[in-house]
Amino acid sequence: MLPQEIIRTKREGGTLDPAAIRLFVAGLSDGSWTEGQVAALAMAIVLRGMDSAETAQLTQAMAQSGERLSWDGLPGPVVDKHSTGGIGDKASLVLAPLLAACGCYVPMLSGRGLGHTGGTLDKLDAIPGYRTAAPIELVRATVRSAGCAIVGQTGELAPADRRLYAIRDVTATVESIPLITASILSKKLAAGPGCLVMDVKHGSGAFLPGLDEAEALARSIVEVARHAGLPCRALLTDMGMCLGRTAGNAVEVMEAIEVLAGQITAGRLVELVLALAEEILDLAGITDGAARARQALTSGTAAERFARMVQGLGGPSGLLERPDVHLPSAPVVRPLLAGPGFVTRIDARALGLAVIGLGGGRTRPDQAVDHAVGLTDVLEVGEATGPDRPLLMVHARDEAAAEAAMARLRPAFEVGPQPCAPPPVVTGRIA
Ligand code: URA
Repeated sequence: MLPQEIIRTKREGGTLDPAAIRLFVAGLSDGSWTEGQVAALAMAIVLRGMDSAETAQLTQAMAQSGERLSWDGLPGPVVDKHSTGGIGDKASLVLAPLLAACGCYVPMLSGRGLGHTGGTLDKLDAIPGYRTAAPIELVRATVRSAGCAIVGQTGELAPADRRLYAIRDVTATVESIPLITASILSKKLAAGPGCLVMDVKHGSGAFLPGLDEAEALARSIVEVARHAGLPCRALLTDMGMCLGRTAGNAVEVMEAIEVLAGQITAGRLVELVLALAEEILDLAGITDGAARARQALTSGTAAERFARMVQGLGGPSGLLERPDVHLPSAPVVRPLLAGPGFVTRIDARALGLAVIGLGGGRTRPDQAVDHAVGLTDVLEVGEATGPDRPLLMVHARDEAAAEAAMARLRPAFEVGPQPCAPPPVVTGRIA
């Protein structure tokens, strides 16, 4: 079967049979399909869609395109969480050690920033010495001793996705539910967890802003994962504002430490972490998950697992006790002020773009990230602002960068005379 025949079938709205899908994935992996052919098929899929059987076959073929990890021999359930990404999303930094404290093992293979959303690995790179690119032996040893390790992809997991994603990124073919499903799940299947919970975000800070699209993606991922033998659930969560009070890298690690250390005990970040933990623990067969998860935070056992993970992967001891000593901080800190009133709407995407503008994210894949800069004390929808309550604090490398960020951020907040209730953070559940 020639590539052009496979592309033509999909272009005309036909269904690709398993052999055609395997040929496409083989062509992606060995380079025998040209970039033009890959892009043409990706565009045909964006426009014509794929049914769930085709999506499942594409996912499986991509998962089998490289190495597959196995975590046999660990004395507890191996679990994972994946988020579609949002502004200020540092949930993994709290959740992975919390799950470890509840008896799970969490090899969490995370990514770098994508578009306007920050990446967990960039946040962890703010910790001096922490090896986000640790070799697999060190990852295994850390998972065994700390119960969790958050690192970048090790080895050659789903290399077909790597090539397909790079081509989709530059050919306007990212926004396709079957392609996103296959991309996310092929990597998860290859990484080998025993169960998975997805955090599928919607709202202005999310990668798919519409609730309907987010829900369709969540359903597709849950269905295809189950088909592939991976128990999976999804939460739909609101990203119409920053998650927690910070957006950036070191500032987000600092906030995660405050949650782990019991200095922050309520709010949307804590609520989301506990909701995700409850789903994962239930899926892993651990009873009384909600109470155990809260207990892991209040007793300090989750914090202790985080400290072990950080040290196991090369970071400093004493990070939890004195994060200010170990984490970089920006020299210029300025408040963004507004007139008195209540925040009624936030363009969360603009917050993410402001962090990139400050140097805390990338505009090119090879760009270095400034881990010190970012936003703190970010207000949420419904909160009061005024002369002594800024909308947020900008942490910048210099005055000019702070001014530019403030100019970009001012229109991101709408302030009105009436208080309003923020939407709940968890807006739906697909099980
Ligand atoms: N994240 C991925 O890994 N793949 C996609 O296609 C979109 C988001």
